[in-house]
Amino acid sequence: MAILEGSWVKPTVYTLCVLLCLICSVQTTEARRESSKTYLRYYVHENRSGPNATILSAAGPGSGKWGTVLVNDNTVREGESPDSKLIGGATGFGVITTQLGLTGGIMSISKVSFNEASKYNGSTLTLSVTFATLYPPYEAIILGGTGHFRGVRGYGLATPALASPPDYPTKWDIYLSKY
Ligand SMILES: *[C@@H]1O[C@H](CO)[C@@H](O)[C@H](O)[C@H]1NC(C)=O
Ligand SMILES: *[C@@H]1O[C@H](CO)[C@@H](O)[C@H](O)[C@H]1NC(C)=O
Ligand SMILES: *[C@@H]1O[C@H](CO)[C@@H](O)[C@H](O)[C@H]1NC(C)=O
Repeated sequence: MAILEGSWVKPTVYTLCVLLCLICSVQTTEARRESSKTYLRYYVHENRSGPNATILSAAGPGSGKWGTVLVNDNTVREGESPDSKLIGGATGFGVITTQLGLTGGIMSISKVSFNEASKYNGSTLTLSVTFATLYPPYEAIILGGTGHFRGVRGYGLATPALASPPDYPTKWDIYLSKY
């Protein structure tokens, strides 16, 4: 009996401790992951024509053809209406990269900067997305962020919203995690 206690009980207690520790650390990691998730919803407004157009065909053949370079300086608002609260801006560039032309989409990189009317004042998110393919939502990769968004990763979904020409809003749903 004494020998059994010596050789079996102690290793069992030890194994239990190791198991408990493992479970604890897994739970802690999970909890940390949960607590650092952020969800954002905003609307990027693009004026496609007129004197206040916010998108420019800057180089290349234009007319939706392969090689066209577009540059944008759009507004970011809380809602779909062009009058809804201004919470930032979205600047970026896109290129029609496939020989299919616009059908192949506009591959783009965009930086969203939040202003003082937003709770993320001064922070930015940079993302990459291919727009205008046949089937929205367009899925974006969040490349990273600054300020409040330092060290984030995640994805975004962009869905064209109700347009009131020349204003074309896009609804954005952003899912961020910090590990
Ligand atoms: C978009 O254009 C409309 C009408 O031309 C104008 O009222 C609005 O201020 C413009 N928006 C931006 C962000 O320039
Ligand atoms: C363009 O924007 C300016 C400044 O916001 C505004 O005064 C003007 O009415 C706009 N033009 C049009 C056609 O909406
Ligand atoms: C917004 O951030 C700027 C600096 O990025 C700061 O000067 C300003 O006071 C901030 N405003 C609010 C309302 O937090």
